[in-house]
Amino acid sequence: MKLLIATTNPGKVREYEILLAGAPVQLLSLNDVGLGDMDVEESGKTLEDNARIKATAYAQASGLLALADDTGLFVDALDGRPGVYPARYGGPGLTMPQRRAKLLGELANAPDEKRTARFVCVIALAAHNSLELVRGTCEGRIAQADDSEGREGFGYDSLFISQGYDVPWSRVPMDEKNRISHRGQAAQQAVLILERLVNA
Ligand code: IMP
Repeated sequence: MKLLIATTNPGKVREYEILLAGAPVQLLSLNDVGLGDMDVEESGKTLEDNARIKATAYAQASGLLALADDTGLFVDALDGRPGVYPARYGGPGLTMPQRRAKLLGELANAPDEKRTARFVCVIALAAHNSLELVRGTCEGRIAQADDSEGREGFGYDSLFISQGYDVPWSRVPMDEKNRISHRGQAAQQAVLILERLVNA
């Protein structure tokens, strides 16, 4: 069965090749199906809304089973901010290092036990007549400082320390992060759904 990875981010397609390696599907990118220029606005208020909006739009446009995801970062001491739109945190025009600096600034002087946070990822699998949603969560905390020396990762990796670790994700090898991360957890559930769909 063919599965369209509904993202305009090429890195994400490569990531899903790894995360879904056990699934009985052939992955296609938006470019593979001529939809590379199609943009779908994330206008929902929840991760579920945004993942569903994207997966459904690309499934309809392609006629294929489509996978889309949406990730949020929720910091307890900040009433859940950055929240559903971590890439927009701090306002438009900021670089990722500036968004991380803003987050650290908002938590200035907070001790470790007050820096608890979680990443949540929702994956939507949409076909013309079906929709499945799965959610993966990774608990952790925000580091006291940005790990500018770390080699791995993107986004907030250099300041997210997942539970049971004392280093941020920028120091955790990608295959290890994939086993514990919000996206990895959601993808493990998506694999089970894909197996069921293929066997149906
Ligand atoms: P998206 O919904 O997957 O595009 O994620 C939205 C934003 O959340 C990204 O632009 C990153 O800033 C951040 N993010 C998502 N997943 C991760 C992660 O695994 N590590 C660090 N930051 C992440």
